[in-house]
Order: sequence, then C-alpha cells, then structure tokens
Amino acid sequence: MIIAVDGPTASGKGTISKALAAHFGLPHLDTGLLYRAVGRQVALNGGDPDDTVDALAATAFPDERLADQELRTEQTGGFASRVSVHPAVRHALFERQRAFAEQPGGAVLDGRDIGTVIAPEADVKLFVTASVQSRAMRRWLEMQDRELDLELREIEADIAARDKRDIERKDAPLRAAPDAFVLDTSDLGKEAAIAAAIEAVEQAKGR
Ligand code: DC
Repeated sequence: MIIAVDGPTASGKGTISKALAAHFGLPHLDTGLLYRAVGRQVALNGGDPDDTVDALAATAFPDERLADQELRTEQTGGFASRVSVHPAVRHALFERQRAFAEQPGGAVLDGRDIGTVIAPEADVKLFVTASVQSRAMRRWLEMQDRELDLELREIEADIAARDKRDIERKDAPLRAAPDAFVLDTSDLGKEAAIAAAIEAVEQAKGR
C-alpha cells in the first residue's frame, strides 16, 4: 500500500505521516528533507538557490547531508522552497522518491507533489492543511521549545511567502490531488489529527 501525504509547511503532515507509517508498518520518506538537503548544499557551496545551475549542482549532496541539523532551520526551509522551483532539481530528485514508493509492500511518502506527480497511483492520498495562523502558532511554540526567539508575525509572513511560492510554481505546484482526502488540522490536537488520518486511510482502503 502506498500512502501519499501532501500539504503545506507546518500543517502536521510530518507527524501524521510518521504515525501512519508506524500504525500500518510501512517505511516512511520525508521528501521535504531531500529539498532541504539541496537548499543546504547550495548555501555550503556559496551558490544562489534561484540559479538553476547552482541548484542543480547541489542535488549531488553527500548522503550525510540528510543528517545535518541545519536542515531543520527556517533559513534552510526557505532555501529548499527556492531550489524546488527549478524543474531540473525536481527531475534530479524524482527517481529516488519513485524507487522508495515502488518498494515491495509499499511506503508512506510526504511532501507537496506525492499524490500528483511522484505516486499518482497511490492507494491512499491525504492532503493535510491548516490555516496560516494555526501553522504559525505551532512553529512559534516549537521555536520556544528550542529557545529560538522569533516574532509570531514574522513566522506568519514567512509561511505565507513559502505557501505562495510552493502554490504558484509552474512545475508540480502544491495542490490537493482531485482524489485526495483533505484533512484540516487547524482545530485538531496531535492525537485527534492522527486518529482522523488513520480513519481516512482505513476508509480509503475499504473502497
Ligand atoms: O516539507 P518541508 O517544509 O520540509 O519542505 C521544504 C520545501 O521543499 C518546500 O517549501 C517545498 C519543497 N518540497 C517540494 O517542492 N516537493 C516536495 N515533495 C517536498 C518539499
């Protein structure tokens, strides 16, 4: 069984995907991490994330880059969103994601274009979303835990800018597949969101 989980940043899709993978005993790939590794590699190379040649060169990042703690920062997230606009970058990362989706027994993949481009044949597609305000609040609380001090309004603006770039890009824009189950987590706590996702997968499996 292939489960595709797409949605904007800080929607809860990562938490939900990990929980689904554990519940259904499937391997999980956070595809955002691949784009983050490219974004981080561009920065390390001293390149420009908006330049196709620089961004494409950074897709040859070493495997250990995936464990780089800097991948989780807001700055790397912004770079990831910028490199992900280039079709050449998306093409370079395609096979790796496709191979993960095709492994025997299936997999859970989360990202922006899993249900639309990477695995359009997925057995179950979830589109996890939430209002900009509730996503910004979650990010802000996470940052407080990590003792990072950022204004809520700054985070909101950053999330809105990231959404705009991800939605408006020409190649594989962020959007729900027509056959996706849309799960709005704005008013749901973590456990309730996970329970709703498991329920949606059970229902989709039964169809
Ligand atoms: O999910 P994330 O915040 O870690 O993703 C970082 C960026 O990577 C996001 O802004 C857009 C890009 N991305 C993408 O274009 N396609 C994916 N399947 C996953 C992420």
